[in-house]
Amino acid sequence: MSASPLRIGIAGLGTVGVGVVRLLRANADLIAARAGRPIGVVAVAARARHRERGIDVSDLRWHDDATELARDPDLDVVVELIGGQEGAARALVTGALAAGRPVVTANKALIAVHGAELAALAERGRTPLAFEAAVAGGIPVIKALREGLAADRLTRVGGILNGTCNYILTTMRESGRDFGPILAEAQALGYAEADPSTDIDGIDTAHKLAILAALAFGRPVDFASVHVEGIRGIAALDIAFAAELGYRIKLLGIARLTEAGVEARVHPCLVPRTAPISQVEGVFNAVFAEGDFVGRVMLEGRGAGAGPTACAVVADLIDIARGTLVPVWGANADSLSRVVSVPMAQLSGDYYLRLHVRDRPGVIAEIAAVLRDCGVSLKSMLQHGEAAGEAVPIVLVTHTTRESALRAAISSIAALDVVLRVPTMIRIEAG
Ligand SMILES: NC(=O)c1ccc[n+]([C@@H]2O[C@H](COP(=O)([O-])OP(=O)(O)OC[C@H]3O[C@@H](n4cnc5c(N)ncnc54)[C@H](OP(=O)(O)O)[C@@H]3O)[C@@H](O)[C@H]2O)c1
Repeated sequence: MSASPLRIGIAGLGTVGVGVVRLLRANADLIAARAGRPIGVVAVAARARHRERGIDVSDLRWHDDATELARDPDLDVVVELIGGQEGAARALVTGALAAGRPVVTANKALIAVHGAELAALAERGRTPLAFEAAVAGGIPVIKALREGLAADRLTRVGGILNGTCNYILTTMRESGRDFGPILAEAQALGYAEADPSTDIDGIDTAHKLAILAALAFGRPVDFASVHVEGIRGIAALDIAFAAELGYRIKLLGIARLTEAGVEARVHPCLVPRTAPISQVEGVFNAVFAEGDFVGRVMLEGRGAGAGPTACAVVADLIDIARGTLVPVWGANADSLSRVVSVPMAQLSGDYYLRLHVRDRPGVIAEIAAVLRDCGVSLKSMLQHGEAAGEAVPIVLVTHTTRESALRAAISSIAALDVVLRVPTMIRIEAG
């Protein structure tokens, strides 16, 4: 092959960085054929120079300061695989784009929070900024939305975007055990971080959803407008009641374009057991998109891990090697829409409520009266057995109701003398 190699510098040699080096080496011929030129790593940066990483980096230029990669004149592309929305990652990406150097990153936090300003820099310099690996790892969803579905008006996008949460919820259902021990087990197996809050509190899913919503609806990325709830409050009891009602519980990110604007929300959902997304189990991710002309599309695969994520990073590098330049958010910044965000209180849906009440006559009537006064109508109710003590769980399923009305009902119900804890509320989605 006579074309000059694409010379890349990689900042971050952790799970993904090492995966990218391995993939580029293992598939060098195939990648060169598809890219039209070889792609070679020439420089790297990480914190600990002498850490054993299972790959040989002795023939690569080493930078102690990752931000130097932005100024290295012998590089064609900077690959940022450090992570974090600020610090070295942001400084490196900003510096590289400002210098007119193409950037590939897997950093969802950075793109979700600073993606609009980074895209403006990239656009000014007519420089690629690629982030296929930032959403759903090995699932090529950025390309699918931005290029494959470019002709359609998308109205709904989302999915299961965090493998840690999906693993925990799947294992809770399969084992009947509660959240705490399953999280500890996931940490021991390496499926959850030592500090799991970004995953289990829904923030990671929200970063990804913000990116998907921006691409799907052609508007500037807006992480702050995403409503976020995680899975800490889901009990084994909820999973069992959901199963009895014909549902599974999934942490979904969902964004919809309606006449009122864009709603973007991350929260646990009851999804019908037979819905395709309910079948996506364990660490797997799935992304769906719905459009006027295309109908519904769903992609499933591994959302994390060295191999899948490296595939996405290297696909971006192949695009750059080919000379492909697409607008970062699917259209130039001045063509993006300014559609407003819709607050959660304005949304309507069906809801699952679990209450713990004193087991005595008249309790149901008291709760029903509160619901009636708030304009919430009930579809069904579940109650099991007589508890030996005083507390019994009951589950209520509502007809479609406004979230603001339901929240008002929940605070009144929680204040009732017969109700022993704040009710658990889970939204019901078609899938
Ligand atoms: N892991 C996945 O499956 C996955 C999937 C999709 C996207 N991502 C994204 O990919 C990125 C990397 O994730 P990862 O899992 O590979 O992380 P990781 O295993 O923690 O690796 C991070 C790397 O960055 C280096 N680093 C940290 N701070 C640095 C600094 N200030 N200057 C230079 N290097 C620094 C670390 O150096 P040392 O090794 O010397 O400590 C390490 O090599 C993140 O944005 C993540 O969200 C990851």
